Amino acid sequence: MTLIDGKKIAADIKGELRERAVAFEERCGKKIGLAVVLVGQDPASQVYVKNKIKGCSEIGIRSFSHYLPDTATQAEVLQLITELAKDENVHGILVQLPLPKHLDAKMLLAAIPPQKDVDGFGAENIGKLALNETSTVACTPLGVMELLKRYDISVKGKCAVVLGRSNIVGRPMAMLLLNADATVTVCHSATENIREECKRADILIAAVGKPKFVTADMVKPDAVVIDVGINRDECGNLCGDVDFEAVRNVASYITPVPGGVGPMTIAMLLSNTVKAAERLFR
Ligand code: GUN
Repeated sequence: MTLIDGKKIAADIKGELRERAVAFEERCGKKIGLAVVLVGQDPASQVYVKNKIKGCSEIGIRSFSHYLPDTATQAEVLQLITELAKDENVHGILVQLPLPKHLDAKMLLAAIPPQKDVDGFGAENIGKLALNETSTVACTPLGVMELLKRYDISVKGKCAVVLGRSNIVGRPMAMLLLNADATVTVCHSATENIREECKRADILIAAVGKPKFVTADMVKPDAVVIDVGINRDECGNLCGDVDFEAVRNVASYITPVPGGVGPMTIAMLLSNTVKAAERLFR
């Protein structure tokens, strides 16, 4: 079994991005900038946002953080996004999800221009991904594809099973795998015989948000297992959607939690931001 080291790959990618950020600054006379919008006090979101801002400073790009109270109105958030959309120092806009329930996330995400949509959540980018056209792709699934690529794990013709159909991970993940010529199955809460579906997978991607959902008996021997989950187990310890200690004995490759997909999400956000800035000056 090979442990997929997302932390190491993310560090390599950040090193490459740092050089591109310096080159951009020399060529364009300004720094690349990412605006990060967080509404409310969700503890997990606060951690994610802090890590994203840290990632910006690691590769030498500016971050503009905007923390709004959970009482912020739709009009206030929309006004902020509209200003960021016009700001020439801002090359990427990230609105951390989930947003408080009283806000219309769909409408707010639609206000981010596709060129600054570094999360790839907007309809234009998702539509292009569905059409297998060049687009900005959601960071977590993009990070998974990058891990597979850097470990020389071929996808073409393989049976890939994605657990979860969220707009953030499952759906774009399935489209990326399909675009890479895998035979893709998407499982979700209404799927019958989920164990049997998983057992057929050469590549199993778990993004269901349930601690240790994937057990060893659900995994085909020598499958590649990618764990997107970040959960707490019954003792309060961080764990993924995969029962790592049992599944590692069955899989050929496996990602740990933490240190697998998580660091890649941030590396891909930074990559999407650098690309967004570079596109303006091509
Ligand atoms: N919430 C959970 N994952 C993500 C992500 O990748 N981007 C944003 N904006 N919010 C998230």
